[in-house]
Amino acid sequence: MRAVLMGPPGAGKGTQAKFLAQDAAVPQIATGDILRKAREEGTPLGKEAQSYMDRGALVPDAVVIGLIQQRLAEPDAAQGFLLDGFPRTVPQAEALDGLLAGLQSPLEDVLLIDVPAEAIVRRLSGRRTCPACGRPYHVESDPPPADGRCGSCGTELVTRPDDRPETVQERLKVYAESTAPLRDYYAAKGLLRVIDGLGAVEEVTARLQAALRG
Ligand code: AP5
Repeated sequence: MRAVLMGPPGAGKGTQAKFLAQDAAVPQIATGDILRKAREEGTPLGKEAQSYMDRGALVPDAVVIGLIQQRLAEPDAAQGFLLDGFPRTVPQAEALDGLLAGLQSPLEDVLLIDVPAEAIVRRLSGRRTCPACGRPYHVESDPPPADGRCGSCGTELVTRPDDRPETVQERLKVYAESTAPLRDYYAAKGLLRVIDGLGAVEEVTARLQAALRG
């Protein structure tokens, strides 16, 4: 598998990427998770990324392209990968094409999880996230354990700072302006499949798996 999972903030990319990557035995490469980890560790990259992330803006292309270049060069990505949250702009998509051409491993699938804005606001306002392993929960649709700790790794769950309502609106605006144009970019290459992201998590997983098989 050499695939991209895209969609608006809160569409369920992280939720679904975990299942799909595990099934295909490839790494899930999520730029948001990499940047949050760097922020928590207080690295220069994390410090640079924080101001963009906290206001719902995109981190500069050169920074995330550099990150992906390094990550794709790691041995576990040699047999395939699932990118989650990258690319997010046309220049990032062009850079990815260039990187993969150099590795003679072109992209095979681009799956876009489509969810309307009203559902996104509901999903993000109820999200709780594990800061260690990145697993998302939802207070209604996927409730976290009663002790408020991650069921996978035991870390205390948090509400992401960028899930505040005003920041969610900014992220939706940035998605419409900068990331939505990738629909046309990948449709023109014959790679894009749009998947309905409404319904139970397992239903959406089944739709994505069917699209990957087809
Ligand atoms: P990132 O972490 O990538 O955020 P995002 O794209 O906004 O996506 P989210 O993680 O918010 O949502 P998701 O689609 O993964 O949904 P989830 O599965 O959690 O990026 C954060 C920031 O980092 C960016 O704003 C930017 O600053 C920076 N950044 C990252 N990549 C970058 C790049 N390439 N270029 C530049 N900057 C970059 O689900 C959401 C909620 O819904 C959860 O509570 C979940 O339990 C629930 N849910 C999931 N599926 C369902 C369902 N079917 N039904 C009901 N609830 C559901």
